[in-house]
Amino acid sequence: MSQQENHAAKSGGADGEVQNFYERYPYPRPVESLEKYRQLWQDAQKRRADYHLFWPAKSYREDHTILIAGCGTSQAAKHALRWPKARVIGVDFSATSVRHTQTLKRKYDLENLEVYQLPLERVHELATSFDQIVCTGVLHHLADPVAGLKALREALKPDGAMHVMVYAPYGRTGIYMLQEFCRRLNLPATDETIRELIAALSALPPGHPLENLLRQAPDFRHAAALADALLHPQDRAYSVPQFFDFIQEGGLTFGRWVKQAPYAPQCGVIANIPQATRLATLPPAEQYAAVELFRGTMVRHSAVVYRADTPSPQVIHFTGDDWLSYVPIRLADTICVEERVPQGATAVLINQTHTYTDLYLPITAAEKRLFEAIDGKRSLAEIVAKTETSSPKKSRGELARSFFERLWWHDQVVFDASKQNE
Ligand SMILES: C[S@@+](CC[C@H](N)C(=O)[O-])C[C@H]1O[C@@H](n2cnc3c(N)ncnc32)[C@H](O)[C@@H]1O
Repeated sequence: MSQQENHAAKSGGADGEVQNFYERYPYPRPVESLEKYRQLWQDAQKRRADYHLFWPAKSYREDHTILIAGCGTSQAAKHALRWPKARVIGVDFSATSVRHTQTLKRKYDLENLEVYQLPLERVHELATSFDQIVCTGVLHHLADPVAGLKALREALKPDGAMHVMVYAPYGRTGIYMLQEFCRRLNLPATDETIRELIAALSALPPGHPLENLLRQAPDFRHAAALADALLHPQDRAYSVPQFFDFIQEGGLTFGRWVKQAPYAPQCGVIANIPQATRLATLPPAEQYAAVELFRGTMVRHSAVVYRADTPSPQVIHFTGDDWLSYVPIRLADTICVEERVPQGATAVLINQTHTYTDLYLPITAAEKRLFEAIDGKRSLAEIVAKTETSSPKKSRGELARSFFERLWWHDQVVFDASKQNE
């Protein structure tokens, strides 16, 4: 494909309707400034944590080739700003999205960014294979999501990683009810309809399944978000088992959830229900499916997936001694709170990006010492040695092993496991 950045890419049928919709209602809402975003990602630890989320066992690098498939108004520009040494390509079939991205490219002088108006199904035309593909909030809008996923998989390098986010059904029940409401009334996607819908939503009766979402997502007050949710011509959702089938059909394999605590039966209130022991005996995919049903309100699934024909690079495990070589890196947005902690705990660790409030992790004084020894450089063996206590070496190791496993499941840390074979 030439470097010309605007390709006429009109799709017909249902996809044509989606394209037309996004020409008129670009989503997310276009932003003018990425300054806050740039500052946030200046943090080298944040970048390292993000890298090892996808590739725990590989040495850190920043010179990747990244595809943002269905980049919307700002996602590709953000990645180009976040990874200045990477080559970032954004594709979107909406001219409006491409235009907004090009404006950001010019404003921030993003020489490492290319943007094309192109349906992601035709990504092979770029004649490039990618270390990383990011496709969030897009595949569930395609007429044939599996064909879209397969096209992306073909463009992924054998050791590449993909970030896929699709809608989840149970938490979106209220949205699907209101979509059906709009369809029954034959409401067109116009600015006036959106204004009137905002008024109608403020009159929704208490207890309506949409109520929670409206409270939690202030974004809904904006026309673009409301249109994207309620007036979208094409949208489907995947339960956990459907999501696993979907990625398998696409020739991919599950690596991990981007945030894993909400799916883990050992995190939050579900860890203490009478069925917890039975739940723990299920294979992981079935545990996640059960937890989704128990939680009842998940609105999306966001996962790291890999090509099914290569071994999964998600090597983190806590059996044997490999874990001692892992270097823990704290995740941004995690805090340690020492006030009003549960009885017996010294502090509570919270990942502020979790939307479920039961996912906090109470820790003891000994665990807090281990936690405070994390500096992004020391391995777990070094941390254990540094925080020597009077307890015997074996029980110290066991305490550390179980604590760091819990930290990992609670999305407090990721591990750099690249030193494992050194
Ligand atoms: C909900 S927005 C998500 C944008 C972005 N991925 C993000 O997370 O901020 C969906 C975007 O995907 C684009 N899109 C949908 N179907 C597409 C397709 N088949 N090929 C390329 N872009 C597509 C739309 O034009 C829109 O900009």
